[in-house]
Amino acid sequence: MTEKKLKGQVALVTGGSSGIGRAIAIALGKAGAAVIVNYASSAASAEEVAAEIRAGGSDAIAIKADVSREEEVFSMFGEIIQQYGTLDILVNNAGLQQDAPFDEMTLEQWQKVIDVNLTGQFLCAREAIREFLRRGLQPERSRACGKIICMSSVHELIPWAGHVNYAASKGAIKMLMQSLAQEYGPRQIRVNSICPGAIRTPINKAAWETPQAYQQLMTLIPYNRIGEPQDVGNLAVFLASDDSDYITGASIFIDGGMAVYESFADGG
Ligand code: BGC
Repeated sequence: MTEKKLKGQVALVTGGSSGIGRAIAIALGKAGAAVIVNYASSAASAEEVAAEIRAGGSDAIAIKADVSREEEVFSMFGEIIQQYGTLDILVNNAGLQQDAPFDEMTLEQWQKVIDVNLTGQFLCAREAIREFLRRGLQPERSRACGKIICMSSVHELIPWAGHVNYAASKGAIKMLMQSLAQEYGPRQIRVNSICPGAIRTPINKAAWETPQAYQQLMTLIPYNRIGEPQDVGNLAVFLASDDSDYITGASIFIDGGMAVYESFADGG
């Protein structure tokens, strides 16, 4: 990408040290944004991502914060505003899976997933919107007063046995995102979701690491390839930029067609 569509803008990517978050952080950096790479535990990986972004010519720092803890989110935003003056783009990406058959799922497994995947998005979106409203619209930065991208999943639509906590968190993100888009559209804040299918990252390694697993996975994906983190990075740049200025309240599926239910191609 040669055009710096996000030049002069500041972006926070939660869970930016690995997987999809890493690719998004790097893509936003390539598009010219200064990037805050948030991480919960892997400082070294987050520093690497920030270094890669700086090597590409954009500013970047890593900040540790558990997004499910209000006081840590407060202090992360405080640091961002102090260093960069404001925030333009929030990528609410941090998320995890704690899978179990439902009848064996512990309250801890349920709570952990809801805390990080859903409450984490609430806490970060609230701070971002407070900052967008404080700063106000500055047309030289962007046509929008602020942009929030929520990392959802095909599982905001497709039920997922054995992953009830995760699917419930993503179903809730759909309503969080749409309700925010409705509430803050009049203030020129855009809120959208990215709904990835199977993307080659550590979270779903078991689904792609052996040829057998990969072949099995392909029965769910009409387009017949796994997604790469870069695919999602490209979409995030589009949603963060003025190219998508008329898009708000949308769930954008990036899944090789997983959400069109390939199993029905010869059945039903
Ligand atoms: C999950 C992955 C899964 C994919 C498709 C994602 O939201 O995190 O583990 O491979 O959905 O089922």
